[in-house]
Amino acid sequence: MSVEVKSVSHEYVEHRLKIIGYEQKYALGFVIQLLLSMLTGGFKRRRIKVLDGVDLFIDRGEFLGLIGVNGSGKTTLLKIIGGLLTPTSGDVIVNGFSMVSEEDVARRYVMYIPGALVGGAIISPFFTVRLALKKIFELYGIPVSRVDEALKIAKLESFSDRRILSLSSGLAARLMLASALFSDAEVFLFDEPVVGISAEAVQSFYDFIRDKLWRERDSTIIYATNNLNEVQRLCRRIAILHGGKIVTSGSLYDLVRGIGLKEVVEIRFYGISSLDEVKLLLDDLAEKYEVDNLGGDYYQLKIIASRAEDVLPLLIERLVRMGGRILSVKVRDISLEEVFIHYVGKGGVG
Ligand SMILES: Nc1ncnc2c1ncn2[C@@H]1O[C@H](COP(=O)(O)OP(=O)(O)OP(=O)(O)O)[C@@H](O)[C@H]1O
Ligand SMILES: [Mg+2]
Repeated sequence: MSVEVKSVSHEYVEHRLKIIGYEQKYALGFVIQLLLSMLTGGFKRRRIKVLDGVDLFIDRGEFLGLIGVNGSGKTTLLKIIGGLLTPTSGDVIVNGFSMVSEEDVARRYVMYIPGALVGGAIISPFFTVRLALKKIFELYGIPVSRVDEALKIAKLESFSDRRILSLSSGLAARLMLASALFSDAEVFLFDEPVVGISAEAVQSFYDFIRDKLWRERDSTIIYATNNLNEVQRLCRRIAILHGGKIVTSGSLYDLVRGIGLKEVVEIRFYGISSLDEVKLLLDDLAEKYEVDNLGGDYYQLKIIASRAEDVLPLLIERLVRMGGRILSVKVRDISLEEVFIHYVGKGGVG
């Protein structure tokens, strides 16, 4: 089942009290704000533009990894695709149905599965495990009579009367995955599903997602995460969300080819007295490089190039001519992390 995201934009509107700037977060805070605002002259509205014309086509049976820095809008986009949030503009077409104008039909095909940390988005932490499953089943049109079966599969039987808030985050995540197994959905939207889950359980989640949901059921999967290793292990295609847009998408190979830089040269040396001199070495050689001072006149240099053989001999020659002594040289393929940083910049948000 295919998913087409068509120029989706989204803006959150935040209401703040003009004078004290107190955030509208809790019920009591809201009442206090309301009273104070009546006395002092109203709210200030702040618009936060998160998505700015996202276009993305996900074909039937695809396993797409969605990456982007914190706050880039991954969760917002997934909730829009899942029909849990209406976009400010644009549309999502699932199996030919519009998530905006034919929401009731379109939503049946899609399931949003938040990880432990974002779990509260769908179910109240005060629900018992049994009630939570019942609510999730209702939401996704799964027969409620199957709740006991789900509790058994997720090994949550002995926790069925416990409140969600008293569960460990890993147990809470199992709850969502159990519901995925029972749903008739054909598109699964995972939002950092393994955050907070211990290492031994993570592997079985990967197996579950890959073997049960993807291979056996031929589902379409979008997997949002901040963990690039996970993306490399699981996903066939990667999309990077940045500045409110999908800045690139494709296999790791496509992404690497897209930036034209595919090899990394790492060289450690000493004997060159200043950082300026080290930079001089590189002047016309590379546009992408990083220099780390390892203490004293010891340096590590990392150059990202299209071909190592174009830069390495010249670099070594210059280093030696300037009196530098080489400790080690390493050439390797560019990593997804380096490709990602190329697109989103270092430490940049949104
Ligand atoms: N309900 C809301 N009201 C106002 N702003 C919001 C709301 N939800 C999210 N935002 C803001 O929208 C932006 C995108 O948030 P979103 O949760 O979609 O990002 P994300 O990519 O999922 O981040 P993370 O990697 O941290 O999960 C952030 O700046 C966030 O602060
Ligand atoms: Mg998120």
